[in-house]
Amino acid sequence: MIVLKQQSEIDKIRASNVIVAEVLAALREEVREGVTTRQLDCLSEELVLKKGAKPAFKGYRGYPFSLCASVNDEIIHGLPSERALVDGDIVGLDFGAFYMGYYGDAAITVPVGRISQEAVRLLQTTEEALALAIDEARVGNRLGDISAAVQGHVEAAGFSVVRDFVGHGIGRNLHEDPQIPNYGVRGRGIKLKAGMVLAIEPMVNAGSHRIKMRPDGWTAVTADGRLSAHFEHTVAITENGPEILSRRQ
Ligand code: MF3
Ligand code: CO
Repeated sequence: MIVLKQQSEIDKIRASNVIVAEVLAALREEVREGVTTRQLDCLSEELVLKKGAKPAFKGYRGYPFSLCASVNDEIIHGLPSERALVDGDIVGLDFGAFYMGYYGDAAITVPVGRISQEAVRLLQTTEEALALAIDEARVGNRLGDISAAVQGHVEAAGFSVVRDFVGHGIGRNLHEDPQIPNYGVRGRGIKLKAGMVLAIEPMVNAGSHRIKMRPDGWTAVTADGRLSAHFEHTVAITENGPEILSRRQ
């Protein structure tokens, strides 16, 4: 069941997502060689609490941290650790907030120092795929238009989209209907309506789309050990087009 949101609810979801955007912007500034992903996790929690919000992921289905930090071949749900970032790494930072009864959720992937040409292209392609997908989040379009936009752009670049994880509706719950695959067929799927709020999150692998789970039960990694990138925004579908809620104001 898809819950459509009133303007007053969208305003609260925006408030939560602006906090997420501010936390991610602060984390991005701290990413450098020598910083551990656990330090980034601690900082994210400190900042979100200071803003009067709660970390959305901590305790969600037993997730033990506030931040997901996924390095290099880690796709999503990377567990913060004493691992220090090194020059040439890419690190996915996925963060959620809970504020005034509503969830915010967004992710960025950030370079550490100088990264390879392939890594640069992977980050660019994934972020572009997200932008193209958001542009399809319009009244009258279909869910498959969002999915196909991601898949088309990613595969044209010679990369692959992860199939085992999807984007999602968001609001009073972190994960609501509909599921939003990053692959699909234009013109298929449900019709998009004003009041839908969607967390659109392409996960893109440099090589094969196949994944493996680490024994920690959380971290998804690429089966072939190659790089993966992840960008996510929470977006409201309005009569005036898509509105990105997870943006600093
Ligand atoms: N952005 C991810 C998602 O929407 C983060 C969830 S992490 C979890 O699924 F720990 F909360 F599961
Ligand atoms: Co999400």
